[in-house]
Amino acid sequence: MTTVTELLQPVELDLENLVANLRSLIGAKHPILQAAAEHLFSAGGKRIRPGIVLLLSRALEPNGELSARHRRLAEITEMIHTASLVHDDVVDEASTRRGVATVHSRFNHKVAVLAGDFLFAQASWHLANLDNLDVVKLLSRVIMDLADGEVKQGLYKYDSCQTLDTYLEKSYCKTASLIANSARAVGVLSEQPDQNLKSLHYFGKQLGLAFQVVDDILDFTGNDQQLGKPAFTDLASGYLTAPALYALEEKPDLARLIDREFSVEGDLENALNLVHTSRAISRTRDLAEQFAKESREAIKWLPDSPSRRAILELPDFVLSRLY
Ligand code: IPE
Ligand code: IPE
Ligand code: MG
Ligand code: MG
Repeated sequence: MTTVTELLQPVELDLENLVANLRSLIGAKHPILQAAAEHLFSAGGKRIRPGIVLLLSRALEPNGELSARHRRLAEITEMIHTASLVHDDVVDEASTRRGVATVHSRFNHKVAVLAGDFLFAQASWHLANLDNLDVVKLLSRVIMDLADGEVKQGLYKYDSCQTLDTYLEKSYCKTASLIANSARAVGVLSEQPDQNLKSLHYFGKQLGLAFQVVDDILDFTGNDQQLGKPAFTDLASGYLTAPALYALEEKPDLARLIDREFSVEGDLENALNLVHTSRAISRTRDLAEQFAKESREAIKWLPDSPSRRAILELPDFVLSRLY
């Protein structure tokens, strides 16, 4: 199986630079906020989003060179992503992230809310300094979508009548929007024609949806060590992701357990059992495969280069996390 390091090999040095730069960019007047932000940056993460930005940037530049603006866009992307995780973990009351304690568990809730805001604000400042209004619009839309996605997720908690479309809209907002809009922003910086900008966005959207659907399967099938965050939490928190929604179609009893919010002893175990004994996980895998395929098709027009080859492997890499 290809590891993320192998996959991102064409931009390995760029990513090393990015990590060093992120540290200096978040240099803050407030040591506590800096420490909180550093806490997660130092823990690592897969760096898939800046990896995608850097690979696309290299693939779209004729001599494969990166401009300072392309590099900065990759940094902004990882900042926005990390900020969203800090806030998401507060909302979900999650204990670990990237294999370490979440910011609110390590520090406290106030620090986590402020640290997330602080990272979003830093990202916005660096975004404005790119001096490109189209890129500012694309990435500020992402920040709106992230908040929208978290609210949507909260509204549909324990709602056994929600549709797969609602779930996909929420997933677009929380996950795919950042990948789609940053991919499109690379195209804007590289002065690509409108048709290419559209397919860059579509590539990122379908890849992001595949990524989220896979993450949602892993919540049912993975373990804490492998994920670096707690497993088996989505259903327990009332978040009905694709596996739960497909299982509901097959097992009407599941709705009863969800509607009473697993309040009777044994409800959650029964519910998990219903998901696992249905075809839900395998249907969800098919859904992820469909998104991955569409994402790959959308980007075939890129001119050949090591970066293009890596980009074409990304959809399969996302799926390979399941095996
Ligand atoms: C976590 O994203 C949030 C989801 C979209 C599921 P990643 O799995 O990319 O998190 P890191 O950056 O590697 O920690
Ligand atoms: C992923 O949502 C997107 C964001 C964190 C914004 P999840 O809620 O599925 O992410 P995890 O599972 O906590 O990483
Ligand atoms: Mg979460
Ligand atoms: Mg998740």
